[in-house]
Amino acid sequence: MSNSIKLAILGLGTVGTGVINLINDNLAELKRRSGHDIIITEVGTRRQRDNIDPNIIQNSDLMAVAASDNVDIVIEVIGGTTLAKDVIMHAIKNGKHVVTANKALLAEHGNEIFAFAEDNNVHVAYEAAVAGGIPIIKVMREALAANKVNWLAGIINGTGNFIMTEMRDKGRPFSDVLSEAQELGYAEADPTFDVEGIDAAHKLALLASIAFGIPLQFDKVYCEGITGITLQDVNYAEELGYRIKHLGFAVRRDGQGDNAAAGIELRVHPTLIPQNALLANVNGVKNAVLVNSHPLGQTLYCGDGAGAGATASAVMADVMDLVRVLGNKDGDEQDSNNQNNHGHHVPHLAFIPEQLSDTPILRAEQMTTGYYLRVHASDNPGVLADITRILSDAGINIDAILQKPAHKVGQVPVIILTLPVVESQMNLAIEKIENLETITDKVVRIRLDELA
Ligand code: HSE
Repeated sequence: MSNSIKLAILGLGTVGTGVINLINDNLAELKRRSGHDIIITEVGTRRQRDNIDPNIIQNSDLMAVAASDNVDIVIEVIGGTTLAKDVIMHAIKNGKHVVTANKALLAEHGNEIFAFAEDNNVHVAYEAAVAGGIPIIKVMREALAANKVNWLAGIINGTGNFIMTEMRDKGRPFSDVLSEAQELGYAEADPTFDVEGIDAAHKLALLASIAFGIPLQFDKVYCEGITGITLQDVNYAEELGYRIKHLGFAVRRDGQGDNAAAGIELRVHPTLIPQNALLANVNGVKNAVLVNSHPLGQTLYCGDGAGAGATASAVMADVMDLVRVLGNKDGDEQDSNNQNNHGHHVPHLAFIPEQLSDTPILRAEQMTTGYYLRVHASDNPGVLADITRILSDAGINIDAILQKPAHKVGQVPVIILTLPVVESQMNLAIEKIENLETITDKVVRIRLDELA
């Protein structure tokens, strides 16, 4: 059997170009693994390129490419949530399978897009949307299909991890490292998405749906980026045996404990984690996702989280899956109603759509985490006692305290690590600490997790 599988690539930026390069480099492997010639027949691009194989049709009308008879699988790598949505819906309507790297689009409109794909008997594959080259969607949907996920924690933005690593290890300024991440093709078109945690929140929404069988709820993800992290806090954390990483957490809570509510926490924020945790040693553009599930226990998946090669690898893994679905149709024997080959159909969000759960997503003040607090106090007797009394009155357990010598005349930085506490309790305690006459600045707080 060897009919050709025809691909269209919409968008020729970093990822689109990476996909073309991968196909050129690995053509023989692709054919030997699929039994088919995989050829790019059309590309959708606003401007004509001279460096593209002349056999490939270049068309600036993306809707026409998405519906072309000359195409079996549409690869959407233009990004954004407007034109990308229109072309994907058009491709689906025209019976095309779709591969996309577009986490923003899926996190915000995935419920609608996946339902439309189901109705039209096609797949929308999105391995490249989460954690770059790490096959985390396949792992979560297929390899862990028999497990109940308790929680997951991941470094899921390569740009952010690259920036934090370079700042910590080489003391480089934030803006320099961000520029380099842009040059290397790691950053989003709008890098605010990377540094403010929005990109990680998009990916977390997708992972959480697969993990817990809940609909996509990007709007309920609590989101903090890395722009507020100072070298001072990085160094204090290291002194106490912790490292600050930007992490996404999806956690199932059973509602046990004081003031704790039942539901799911979806949160993205800088986090102190133990220096000896594997995640603490995932550096540069690498991503990693740690999954705690029953009965398997903890497993960690790690690899390049951004860049042309890593993302193209994930895009083409999806293409190969679809080629295997499409591969059953052969010449005249093709059954046009059997495009989906349901025997191999993995539900888009891992659970069958009718079985999605309505478990609530917890609000920020209902979430439970440990904390790193940096308090600047006047160098007076009794200040530390006042602070610790407020914390103990609020039922907050202190795990460690570090008091540094006064660095400005009369001011003492006090660093406090706490055990997990419900955020609303911590908010009240911080308000009281900030109201003390001896406290000169806002309390700096960063969440802390032992990842146990
Ligand atoms: N800007 C993203 C990142 C690209 O840095 O992780 C991969 O999704």
